[in-house]
Amino acid sequence: MEFFLDTASIEEIKHYQALGLVDGVTTNPTLLAKEGRDPINQIKEITALVSGPVSAEITYSEPEKMIKQARKLSELAGNIVIKVPASISGIQVARRLKKYGIKMNITLNFHSTQTIPFIKMGIDYVSIFIGRVEDFGLCNKEAIQSIKSAIAQMNSTTKLISASIRNPGYLIEAVTAGSDVVTVPPSCWEKVYNNPLFYLGEKEFLEDWKQLPTKMRKIYESLD
Ligand code: E4P
Repeated sequence: MEFFLDTASIEEIKHYQALGLVDGVTTNPTLLAKEGRDPINQIKEITALVSGPVSAEITYSEPEKMIKQARKLSELAGNIVIKVPASISGIQVARRLKKYGIKMNITLNFHSTQTIPFIKMGIDYVSIFIGRVEDFGLCNKEAIQSIKSAIAQMNSTTKLISASIRNPGYLIEAVTAGSDVVTVPPSCWEKVYNNPLFYLGEKEFLEDWKQLPTKMRKIYESLD
């Protein structure tokens, strides 16, 4: 299983790379806009930094334009994966791009059925959105297992990315439900480790420790 980082920030990528949590990166128009820089240069910089796949999303909805943009973006680096929307136009576009050997990540899947034509084509990745569905009070975790079953049933090489991961609960569900990849935003990793119970526990242990005479503690803590 791999972890991608759901960001377009160079600083965040460097930080999480040092923690071994960047097997790839997923950008989207929102994340690139947030950086406020030339998006082409930003993508190029990310692809140079990360050896794994880097998703860059197309920003047109009309098939001919989508194809042209995808072909142009795919030339930016060898590890670019083009994000194609899970729509009827997306199916047409994916069929054409596959002939050019362009790697793809099908985005904006909110129901497992949306992914089926792309799995049948053997597109590289399909991304199922979890958080955006749960924002409406609905649960989308079962979709992970359904899509994995569909991939197996169709003998496909497609990999499943769990996306739109908002909190530690979604993250562990995505891992244990059998995702091939979970793309995690830095804000989610921060929530995982900014746990008040952890801070309380750590404080308590260190305070209790001071009950021992200094001399005894020093032997235990000796680094020589
Ligand atoms: C990933 O590929 C998606 O762009 C991302 O996970 C969307 O997350 P959001 O729903 O939190 O914006």
